[in-house]
Amino acid sequence: MPVIAVLGAQWGDEGKGKVVDQLAAEARMVIRFSGGDNAGHTVINAHGEFKLHLVPSGIFSQATCLIGNGVVINPARLIEEVDQLNKRGIDTSRLVISDRAHLVMPYHLLLDGLEEESRADRAIGTTKRGIGPAFTDKVARMGIRAGDLLDQKAFRYRLQSVLDYKNTILTRVYGVSPLSLEEIYGQYCQYGERLAPHIKETTTLIREALARDDYILLEGAQGALLDPDFGTYPYTTSSSPLSGGACLGAGINPKQIDRILGVFKAYCTRVGSGPMPTELHDEVGQAIRERAHEYGTTTGRPRRCGWFDAVAAAFSSQINGFTGMVITRLDVLDTLPGLKICTGYRLNGKTIDYFPASIADLEKCQPIYEELPGWQTETSHIREFARLPAEARRYVNRLEELSGCPANIICVGPSREQTIQVRPVI
Ligand code: GDP
Ligand code: IMO
Ligand code: MG
Repeated sequence: MPVIAVLGAQWGDEGKGKVVDQLAAEARMVIRFSGGDNAGHTVINAHGEFKLHLVPSGIFSQATCLIGNGVVINPARLIEEVDQLNKRGIDTSRLVISDRAHLVMPYHLLLDGLEEESRADRAIGTTKRGIGPAFTDKVARMGIRAGDLLDQKAFRYRLQSVLDYKNTILTRVYGVSPLSLEEIYGQYCQYGERLAPHIKETTTLIREALARDDYILLEGAQGALLDPDFGTYPYTTSSSPLSGGACLGAGINPKQIDRILGVFKAYCTRVGSGPMPTELHDEVGQAIRERAHEYGTTTGRPRRCGWFDAVAAAFSSQINGFTGMVITRLDVLDTLPGLKICTGYRLNGKTIDYFPASIADLEKCQPIYEELPGWQTETSHIREFARLPAEARRYVNRLEELSGCPANIICVGPSREQTIQVRPVI
């Protein structure tokens, strides 16, 4: 059985949660490999509607659900999420937390807000979940990991030295009150006791699963264009949502991944600041936002909406090595008389077909559009590709051609069954 990565191909919120929930029915293991509770993955299935931030979207299946070493975990938020799931009758005993996963600490939350404030009109528009500061500490070798909670004495020693440094920054740079060692220590020891049964050395579990030839899903967070290397830096997140990030954040080597699915919306959205060449500031953008209720799952902020950007899509496909596409929210386009796809950019009087690294250039890029007719028919009840209106099939085929990979799945509504299997994933 294969290892399949399900990755965000645009700016996040493409519908990864729905796709993972659906594929997980057959999986034995689901691993979240990046981000933290900045992610908001919506799952709508027979158990109801759920917004998951840290718990893998496979939690409704029989699969072991693993939070990988590449995720940063706010333990308070994880416990809250687990409690809410349990209250609604969902069993979370199969949840495993990598002992290598870093923790989001109270100073990370505080610093995320303070750093954003200090950026003033250049604020990134982060989710203020402490994600950037937590990943900064990981790289600076100042992080505290889930496994550290299992040894309270060593944890206290480590926390003390890190907190001394953080309090210096908080008081001297930002002029705010220092945080209390005793409070954080007491609180995190409680979290540690609660989470201890789930915290494990996970490479062994993964090795055993691979040896059994288990079906494993790797669940991405965010999207390729938020990657710190290839996204619209510095308006990005702080961990890699790419297939390379999946290897690192789960502990699976590149040779072991069999399929890489890029999840794309049938148009584009973005939440937070940063360039988005096909953004619509007119009534069409407004119509998409209202019809699709494009408001952030984690923060409730309105998402910026725009036409499908095939330059960005081909770039995303290239850096991820997608073997197939999942196209979500095709139904959102049902009412539009005509559709546009961006096939190139005009930059300084020249036509370019690549996604520039410079955000100053990207901000200047004028999209070159190809226009296709709309279908103006409801599609949300359709379950077979051949039954889609001809214009919808043509639109999908054009997205495939321009993105350079075939569509495996098309989604025509938020619930699990509102799905068209175009080509088998496995
Ligand atoms: P994720 O972060 O990639 O998991 O995506 P989010 O959950 O943040 O946002 C995706 C939104 O689209 C959620 O509200 C889903 O319920 C919804 N959704 C997913 N697929 C479809 C679809 O095909 N059609 C419609 N109308 N909504 C969808
Ligand atoms: P899912 O997994 C959409 C965006 C934020 C901000 C930038 C940096 O649900 O697709 P951060 O808090 O990570 O430092 O914010 O990244 N962002 C997301 N946008 N979906 C997400 O996750 C996101 N996670 C972070 O809006 O622009
Ligand atoms: Mg989301």
